[in-house]
Amino acid sequence: MASSDDIDLDAPLFAFSPNDYWTINDATQGTSIMGATGSGKTSGSGATLARAFLDAGLGGLVMCAKPEERELWEQYARETGRLQNVIVFSPEGYRYDEHGQKVAHQWRFNFLDYELKRRGKGGGLTENLVNLLTRVTELAEGTHDIAGKEQFWERAMRQLIRNGIEILILSKGTITLKDLAKFVRDAPTSIEQLKRVATEDEPSWWDTSFCAKCMEEAEQKEKTPRELNDFEMASDYWLHEFPNLGDRTRSSIVATFTSVADQLLHGLAWELLCTETTLVPEMTYKNDAIIILDLPIQEYQELGRIVQGIFKFMFQRAILRRNPKTDPRPVFLWADEAQNFVSSFDYQYQAVARSARACTVYMTQNISNYYAVLGGANSHDEAHALLGNFQTKIFHANGDHATNLFAADMIGQDWQTGHSFSVSQGAEGGSRTGGGSESVQYKVWPDAFTRLKKGGKENNLEVQGIVFQGGRVWNVTQDTALFQIFLQK
Ligand SMILES: Nc1ncnc2c1ncn2[C@@H]1O[C@H](COP(=O)(O)OP(=O)(O)O)[C@@H](O)[C@H]1O
Ligand SMILES: [Mg+2]
Repeated sequence: MASSDDIDLDAPLFAFSPNDYWTINDATQGTSIMGATGSGKTSGSGATLARAFLDAGLGGLVMCAKPEERELWEQYARETGRLQNVIVFSPEGYRYDEHGQKVAHQWRFNFLDYELKRRGKGGGLTENLVNLLTRVTELAEGTHDIAGKEQFWERAMRQLIRNGIEILILSKGTITLKDLAKFVRDAPTSIEQLKRVATEDEPSWWDTSFCAKCMEEAEQKEKTPRELNDFEMASDYWLHEFPNLGDRTRSSIVATFTSVADQLLHGLAWELLCTETTLVPEMTYKNDAIIILDLPIQEYQELGRIVQGIFKFMFQRAILRRNPKTDPRPVFLWADEAQNFVSSFDYQYQAVARSARACTVYMTQNISNYYAVLGGANSHDEAHALLGNFQTKIFHANGDHATNLFAADMIGQDWQTGHSFSVSQGAEGGSRTGGGSESVQYKVWPDAFTRLKKGGKENNLEVQGIVFQGGRVWNVTQDTALFQIFLQK
């Protein structure tokens, strides 16, 4: 297996033909695999690329939509001699010893603690925490604003989190999710509440609220001019702006934040993400770790989405901020059934993944899956923006017209001369007569994708795919499209 810094970015990972290598460099420009259920994504192109990554010695992160994902990767790791690099992050976490035996290991990742320790108290801490916690609530809410247009809701959430953090850090010197949730839950809901004086039956808000207690503590602390400014801004928010927010707005952001915090502060999520830290994303490139987030969505649902989403986001940020001079190891990010894991950060991540040496592979049935999860009025633009950042696109058998049209359009059209091609293909559309015997035609017709082999015994284990890579003309075809057979094992 490769040692710490000997990975050659131009080393071939896979040969599409004897003259068409696909290298780590190509992989760092992102890969999208699409095909109908049963078209051979997982067992065909997916298995081929996964084994190639492990063979090349890469570490990475494996997202799990289905329960069988973990076993699949353990199998790949066994075949490529990488079992000792496997880290299974789950309630019953484990690793493998040098004899290939499972060893129970409590992998834990206290994400807030990690963020706090990493940065110390220096500049940018609050904003980083705000970004992090806003992402976390976004994961739970399932809102995905790829283009980064700040919605009203997001602005309000960011304000809530930012001002809560400011007061807590001033009063306690640090923050915990538990404190922040308590603080937000106890925040004033009206100006009257703030003004009301204590009676014998009912103490005042100022006497009982955790929020009030922290504000008072923060006020009494000695402050630098900057801290004083931050404190004044934050108290103005909690004592004026927040209680004056419309009831529905206020209760909705509070409910969203506290319900996400609650999920994280209980049971499994608490154990994995809020206790100690024995696992950090950096292990993927420092120790070639293959981190499998074995909380499959099919089993754990929203909890799986939040826990995996947090780890994925922290991984992406760790990869983006590392220095490739001191930490040059490429890593992979793997998501089969990727519609479960798309986030608004992916676009940003993918746009710079090449320089960060991050090989992302996203697999899903069809383009409409991305439209659906990206939601909103711009879902098409956002899906196309994301897909545009995956330079290598592999298309398997598909009956989804939108996907087939997308693929055919991308591969492009040609002027075809000659009698046989000048006839318009009628019902299919897409062909228009260009005058005389010339016409513009798809190089690969949309319906070609409906006829690709899907593997299995009846196809001699052959899975067909059509491969397109932005800006690349394949030597074997002298064209932008390449027909490839991936063998199932
Ligand atoms: N190792 C294998 N040998 C033979 N057939 C297989 C193998 N793996 C999967 N298949 C079959 O090949 C087809 C494609 O499977 P799969 O890769 O899971 O598709 P997808 O991931 O696109 O849903 C399915 O019919 C499946 O049963
Ligand atoms: Mg599959």
